[in-house]
Amino acid sequence: MTAHRFHLRAGGVSLVLDASDDRLPAVLHWGADLGELDAQALDALATATSPTVLPSSPDVPVRVSLVPEASTGWLGRPGLVGSRAGLDWSPRWTRVAAERSVERGGDAVHVRATDPECGLELGLEVELTAQGLVRLRASVTNTGDSDYEVGELLVGLPVPRRAREVLDLAGGWGSERHPQRSPLVVGQHRREGRAGRTGFDAPTVLHVGVPGFGFRSGEVWGVHVAWSSNHVHQAERTASGVQVVGGGELLLPGEGRLAPGETYRGPWLFGSWGHGLDTVAHRFHGWLRARPGHPDPRRPVALNVWEAVYFDHDLDRLKALADLAAEVGIERFVLDDGWFGARRDDTKGLGDWVVSPEAWPSGLGPLIDHVRGLGMEFGLWVEPEMVNMDSDVARAHPEWVMQPGHGRLPVEARHQQVLNLTVPGAYAHVRDQLLAVLADNDIGYLKWDHNRDLVEAGTAPGGAAAVHAQTLATYRLMDEIRAAHPGLEIESCSSGGARIDLEVLQRTQRVWPSDVIDPHERQRVLRWTGQLVPPEMLGSHIASGHSRTTGRTHDLTFRASTAVFGHLGVEWDLTAATPAELAELGAWIAWWKSARPTLLGGELVRVDSPDADVWVHGVVTPERGIFSVGAGSSGPVSNLGDVVLPGLDAEAQWHVRPVIPAAPPFLFGQPDWIGGVSLSGRMLAEVGLRFPAMPPDQVLLVEAVRV
Ligand code: DGJ
Repeated sequence: MTAHRFHLRAGGVSLVLDASDDRLPAVLHWGADLGELDAQALDALATATSPTVLPSSPDVPVRVSLVPEASTGWLGRPGLVGSRAGLDWSPRWTRVAAERSVERGGDAVHVRATDPECGLELGLEVELTAQGLVRLRASVTNTGDSDYEVGELLVGLPVPRRAREVLDLAGGWGSERHPQRSPLVVGQHRREGRAGRTGFDAPTVLHVGVPGFGFRSGEVWGVHVAWSSNHVHQAERTASGVQVVGGGELLLPGEGRLAPGETYRGPWLFGSWGHGLDTVAHRFHGWLRARPGHPDPRRPVALNVWEAVYFDHDLDRLKALADLAAEVGIERFVLDDGWFGARRDDTKGLGDWVVSPEAWPSGLGPLIDHVRGLGMEFGLWVEPEMVNMDSDVARAHPEWVMQPGHGRLPVEARHQQVLNLTVPGAYAHVRDQLLAVLADNDIGYLKWDHNRDLVEAGTAPGGAAAVHAQTLATYRLMDEIRAAHPGLEIESCSSGGARIDLEVLQRTQRVWPSDVIDPHERQRVLRWTGQLVPPEMLGSHIASGHSRTTGRTHDLTFRASTAVFGHLGVEWDLTAATPAELAELGAWIAWWKSARPTLLGGELVRVDSPDADVWVHGVVTPERGIFSVGAGSSGPVSNLGDVVLPGLDAEAQWHVRPVIPAAPPFLFGQPDWIGGVSLSGRMLAEVGLRFPAMPPDQVLLVEAVRV
């Protein structure tokens, strides 16, 4: 046997791969750092973890590689599902190269394997980033002389048997990112996204961990597929107790067809291990933050006009809104849907990216000049991949609309269809119109929306499925527009939070986590979107007291205390706000600006509670911590009890007091610490502060400053 092993080590994590005997790499260990391991120690690890022959099983131990192969006797889901007209469907890979290199601060192994008889070549890239995040992806090349159809190419990471509980997320419009837990039983916990966008119901991160794992404790392994359309995340447990977590792209029929010489490359699968969900999240955040060009924590406070005016674009009204925005301290003014073509409501004009002379007789210039004159940046809403059939572009080019063939169109959603960016003319139309708007106007920010699922999304006239190609075209369009305007920021919005993944985040600087701005809902949305996305990339708005999406009413303290844990914005008709409300809003914005480096640059802390409606979370830096403590509407109105505030340096002393803009929302009396108290980080983490009776749907912000 020729031993060929790699020990990747970073951020408190070890990933040990075994590619001995010219086979595909298999994981010997993914988890806690094992320290320095020499060749002898690696041999010992391989011996200790070598699989055994099981009763009524193949006569050789079944080995599960990063792309699990049936040819080893593996009866779980194979990594590659594909065939050449029914043949060559079970390759037996021989590793022909495995090289180690250091990339972007991470340690990487590149593997090439072939099966000449099947006419296939496999590429594998495995990396352990400086933050201890594993990322891997696979590619398949057709080296045969006829077409090969890849149906699915998934990569997977085995996890130990003690990880027996699954936690992932699900949701819908206005209801994003509900956590769901289930036992990991024999079979597949397979989450398919078929929405042609990342989807409201995407798992975001699919975790398996020791039963009962929480934010701060319990060993847990999480995976995320970095892809903005159809995807698979899965956790599989076989009858013999082997467990694999992984995923990849969900390919539609024909999308994986490879002509001789062609390659299909799957998306990155990210894997994050830790004790507690916070550690899993920190690795994602740390990796994003380490990228060149990652948004600075001193991000501008935004005002988005959507819930203030909807489609009613009136220059004087918008100027009045801008005046008030500047007065309360807003730094970026974003004009939403309705500025172009015949788009006076959501039934017409989508796809015609030309400023409407009807709504804007003098162009956008007068508004932009006004906004810029007030010292704010100007941002604009676009939805480049979409089209209303009642638009100039759809009338001129009905063949540019995505469709399944036979002259039939998919069902409409929000009165719209999808423009096929894989058609060069359609792509050029959108790109050129958007570039013209950007060239003619002083625009620093695009809110890039995507308001429907891709259903039966093919290319006319034949109707060949084109979701994969559309996704790549969208990435290309974002890249081209950003290359032409390097300082331009893009927000990824998709009817709220339906396009949030690590691939779109390579080209966007903010996500819009949900159309629901009701703070009661936002507590959950921010907490769980934060499992993947750091606070500085989470759009977080203060809306009017009466929520436009839920009809609930909340006071400004709760709305603002909720929103400050993200990239702050306002989405409220300020012309209808009272002077007292404007003053209070201004105070919140001023405080947020002073706390911005902590709120947007700190480390996320979420505290477990047996009561689902008790919310405790915060952000910490070496110098400061800001925590939010409160309860939802079905939470206790009585004592919250002793609330621990972990994450601060245990050895240091911290001065703790409520944050000034918040009027303490206590029902009866004040706790003794309300005027401030100094405690060690250890006392705060182990004992905490006693919180008295609080009304439902209220939170109190508490600040801890290192003494
Ligand atoms: C959906 C978005 O989520 C909203 O914020 C708004 O931009 C509308 N689209 C505009 O049509």
